[in-house]
Amino acid sequence: MNNKTVITQFLLMGLPIPPEHQHLFYALFLAMYLTTVLGNLLIIILVRLDSHLHTPMYLFLSNLSFADLCFSSVTMPKLLQNMQSQEPSIPYAGCLTQIFFFLLFGYLGNFILVAMAYDRYVAICFPLQYTRIMSPKLCTCLVLLFWILTSSHAMMHTLLAARLSFCENNVILNFFCDLFALLKLACSETYVNELMIFIMGGFVVITPFILIVISYASIIYSILKVPSTQGIYKVFSTCGSHLSVVTLFYGTVIGLYLCPSGNNSTVKENTMAMMYTVVTPMLNPFIYSLRNRDMKRALIRVIYSKKISL
Ligand SMILES: *[C@@H]1O[C@H](CO)[C@@H](O)[C@H](O)[C@H]1NC(C)=O
Repeated sequence: MNNKTVITQFLLMGLPIPPEHQHLFYALFLAMYLTTVLGNLLIIILVRLDSHLHTPMYLFLSNLSFADLCFSSVTMPKLLQNMQSQEPSIPYAGCLTQIFFFLLFGYLGNFILVAMAYDRYVAICFPLQYTRIMSPKLCTCLVLLFWILTSSHAMMHTLLAARLSFCENNVILNFFCDLFALLKLACSETYVNELMIFIMGGFVVITPFILIVISYASIIYSILKVPSTQGIYKVFSTCGSHLSVVTLFYGTVIGLYLCPSGNNSTVKENTMAMMYTVVTPMLNPFIYSLRNRDMKRALIRVIYSKKISL
């Protein structure tokens, strides 16, 4: 307790990039971040402008794009700034802010994937009742509920982390303020924090995952009951892109937490963190839009109508 000092900032010793490759990686990350911002913005704007896309599926997609956009904006601008500076630091308050928004938007995207899976389940298993079940009121309530759940969850972890005290060591071995990395540095008791991560983690990670699995299992079951090439084609065309996003998201998370880490665990953790903070949010818009006829048509309609109005 004697050597307790007040830490005002943390050093982010993230990506072990050799100095001669700094510029290359800087350009790469900048390009990836810009792609993420533009791709997701395009989806949000298209869904807003084109009334054909005012359906639950595309409104949820637009929400997912918003969450992805914010999620990568929590870490990427700071990473880009730190790559340019001699001392890659982040103030104490900035670190807690980063933790809050990282948890908020990360889990928000996670919950929206559940809403999208449920939407596909209703569309395929109850096509006649679809508009009645997926009413605008239900969609708004779901989105509101997700915001309340994820922001209170993020707030709880942030407040618990704010209680910790830190000693000399202020070096975070990651490129952003990761909750786990912060707990490792604390020199006060982190038992409560870890217990809450364990309990709430089960709720906010496993519950959405199980709900998604149940939705898709029901879809597959209802298709197999009346097998037809048309039905199978329908499932693949409507759920294929969604399933690839879910696989990408949970694949990296499961890879991160379940695979045994060797002695080079920091490098592995950083690479995985790179995957879900940069690559997944960047790929989502492409997975959804490039293969999607509705999105392409909406883009053409929006451009065309703007031309006419000009
Ligand atoms: C998110 O979804 C809700 C409910 O469907 C919708 O009203 C809202 O416009 C969506 N938000 C965005 C940014 O698309």
